[in-house]
Amino acid sequence: QSGLFTYDPGFTSTAACDSAITFIDGEKGELLHRGYPIDQLASKSHYLEVCYLLLYGELPSAEQLEEFETTVTRHTMLHEQMQYFFRGFRRDAHPMAVMVGVVGAMAAFYHDSTDIGDPRQREIASFRLIAKMPTIAAWAYKYSIGQPFVYPRNDLDYASNFLHMCFAVPAEEYKIDPVLARAMDRIFTLHADHEQNASTSTVRLASSSGANPFACIAAGIACLWGPAHGGANQAALETLKEIGSVDRIPEYIARAKDKDDPFRLMGFGHRVYKNFDPRAKVMKQSADEVLDLLGVENNPILAVAKELEKQATADEYFIERKLFPNVDFYSGIILEAMGFPTSMFTPIFALARTVGWISQWKEQLSDPQLKIGRPRQLYCGATARDYVDIENR
Ligand code: SDX
Repeated sequence: QSGLFTYDPGFTSTAACDSAITFIDGEKGELLHRGYPIDQLASKSHYLEVCYLLLYGELPSAEQLEEFETTVTRHTMLHEQMQYFFRGFRRDAHPMAVMVGVVGAMAAFYHDSTDIGDPRQREIASFRLIAKMPTIAAWAYKYSIGQPFVYPRNDLDYASNFLHMCFAVPAEEYKIDPVLARAMDRIFTLHADHEQNASTSTVRLASSSGANPFACIAAGIACLWGPAHGGANQAALETLKEIGSVDRIPEYIARAKDKDDPFRLMGFGHRVYKNFDPRAKVMKQSADEVLDLLGVENNPILAVAKELEKQATADEYFIERKLFPNVDFYSGIILEAMGFPTSMFTPIFALARTVGWISQWKEQLSDPQLKIGRPRQLYCGATARDYVDIENR
């Protein structure tokens, strides 16, 4: 080919990997975790049980679940000195920047669980990450609003503990609404794992060099932050707010279709799903429940979201390109109704996805053929040529 190196068609990419954790059928809009459909897990299970399933491959017995939940609960505290890490950030730092920094720094505080060659240390690091992520995310939020850190409590379940650490203040008791706690837990479950998405692939690539677990998860958090990936939940709500009312929907659909307009409908489309994202369906039901409870059932933004979904999914452009709402389309509406600022949406996604990253990290490490991930490229630059002295250029 003109000027290009000959591409060796025999070369196959090593980017794909075998995995037994999560299966997605994009055409059917199907998502299975260790064989169990996501809608069944979201309605019948709860996040820590799904964590156990993702990590160990089977649903736990009652005893196994109790032991797992007790171990997670007893690892929720952060090393007291880590508070100084939060205080080193500006108050207006994005919580995702704080999470990348603090999770990476865990390698300096918990160095007795960084040796990836020791299965026991791998197990301890896994528990520490799953248990401490709610504390880290909640403290990033508290720090950003100038409120004191609230410590985790062992008498609360995982989701309730997170809500308590985010919204309790020393001055008064924070009453945890069981419907909100259930909705929070369901949001965690819906975000737990999703096959080889960009941030999970980042974690697997980082772990292939033997990097310690905290560094690998920090890399995953950094990748998830992007608006095309985990940052889409924040961007999707901002888009819905920009549209603002149902009568402005046609104008924005036209913009999304306009090649010369960079505007995209955030929360729509997916690399793999060419049908409805099954998580979006559950999220939509959850939005109705939570907003009914909060007495904001006639939330104008939810009305815009539902009408936008209706008009976009009936439009030729979206039908042709198989663009449907994804997991991020409705999640922001629920999180905002719960009282979270948009800056906390992606940290909550990162908190929930930590178990998926860890499950895939452990699976990667269990591969006896562990070799550093080294994707190749199709070179399209200049062919070899001699250096030209500056006086001759
Ligand atoms: C997540 O991979 C995962 O699993 C990720 C995730 C997970 O759980 O980990 O599911 C979480 O990241 C969900 C996706 C969140 N991102 C967004 O909602 C951002 C908005 N969506 C897009 O930018 C886009 O849809 C992607 C990046 C998500 C997927 O892009 P694709 O499949 O590569 O599609 P594409 O970019 O090749 O677009 C195909 C066509 C293009 O038009 P043409 O060039 O063919 O004319 O569809 C158009 C695109 O312009 N298109 C959109 C669109 N998404 C794609 N047009 C308008 N609005 C959109 N949202």
